[in-house]
Amino acid sequence: MKAAIIKRYGSADSLRIQDMPRPSLSDDEVLVRVRATSINPVDWKIREGSLKFLTGKDFPKVLGSDFSGEIVEAGANTNGYEPGQLVYGMNNAVKGGAYAEYLAVKISKLAPKPTSLSHEEAAAVPMAALTALQGLKKGGLRAGQHILVNGASGGVGSFAVQIARAYHASVTGVCSSRHVEMVQQLGADRVVNYEEESPLPNTPTYDLIFDAHGTMSFSKARKALREGGQFVSTLPSVDKVFWSVASKVMGDQGSHIIQVKVNPTDLSELRTLIDDGQIKPFIDSVFPLEDIDEAHRKSEEGHASGKIVVSLYAEDTGKK
Ligand SMILES: NC(=O)c1ccc[n+]([C@@H]2O[C@H](COP(=O)([O-])OP(=O)(O)OC[C@H]3O[C@@H](n4cnc5c(N)ncnc54)[C@H](OP(=O)(O)O)[C@@H]3O)[C@@H](O)[C@H]2O)c1
Repeated sequence: MKAAIIKRYGSADSLRIQDMPRPSLSDDEVLVRVRATSINPVDWKIREGSLKFLTGKDFPKVLGSDFSGEIVEAGANTNGYEPGQLVYGMNNAVKGGAYAEYLAVKISKLAPKPTSLSHEEAAAVPMAALTALQGLKKGGLRAGQHILVNGASGGVGSFAVQIARAYHASVTGVCSSRHVEMVQQLGADRVVNYEEESPLPNTPTYDLIFDAHGTMSFSKARKALREGGQFVSTLPSVDKVFWSVASKVMGDQGSHIIQVKVNPTDLSELRTLIDDGQIKPFIDSVFPLEDIDEAHRKSEEGHASGKIVVSLYAEDTGKK
């Protein structure tokens, strides 16, 4: 099978397209013919070696978490999944494997694909939308809240704005001038251009601050939180680990770090929100597998509009 691999840690130039053996199946896995995958920042953090304490020194490595495709083989204990079913999901980023024509994956990491989306669109969903859903829920997402989403135009943020709106919260999205119109289109009630205005007011304004971009600190954000307000960040740091413990004993405002975990229940909730027309992936661009190095470079620039997708079947853009 064709796969994008790395034989060493390094820049996007280290990505190569190569023939690899098809992965073998365990009893609780299905073999998915991958039609599309998408880029998440963790992919290039692994590629450049920033997480080598987790990813080790075994090469070649096939990176990639997100996938959408068709089951071609099912292990003995796969709970009714069978060849021909269309699925989407997210493999553990450290394990990777989605930048390839075939992926062996546990059924706990997938769910039936949203019927209203093409494979390219469905592959844009899992990691970013799960992080948004789980992060907002960790912060106590409820109807009627006022929520600030920092990094509202990125993969995670673009889903967070839509999910918060679907839960009937009022949303302020933070982005640069180039993305103001996009964030309005996503449904934000208000948009703050961080190039012109500080996203954090000095008065208690928000019930929940979801920092999808991951660069805010709780110590600065808390002044903008109402009583009982919660702060959730996508990126760990020493400061944020401190505040996630300290905030529990200090008062009623809370600070949290989200670590996304795939599960069929949340994937199914996202599928329902998508097929009901309440949220949809915002696609920055679609690259063929052969140009995955370009897709990585674009993601590393840090200013994508929504998700960068990689198609393994560029000729097949029909919805299934
Ligand atoms: N903890 C977890 O489980 C988990 C899961 C998924 C992702 N993450 C992390 O979450 C972060 C975001 O992921 P992503 O997929 O959304 O990344 P992404 O799609 O690459 O995010 C790009 C967005 O970041 C925005 N941005 C850049 N500088 C900004 C700034 N100073 N303030 C506010 N927004 C800014 C950009 O908007 P402008 O172009 O308008 O500036 C752009 O739209 C990454 O660090 C990723 O590793 C963590």
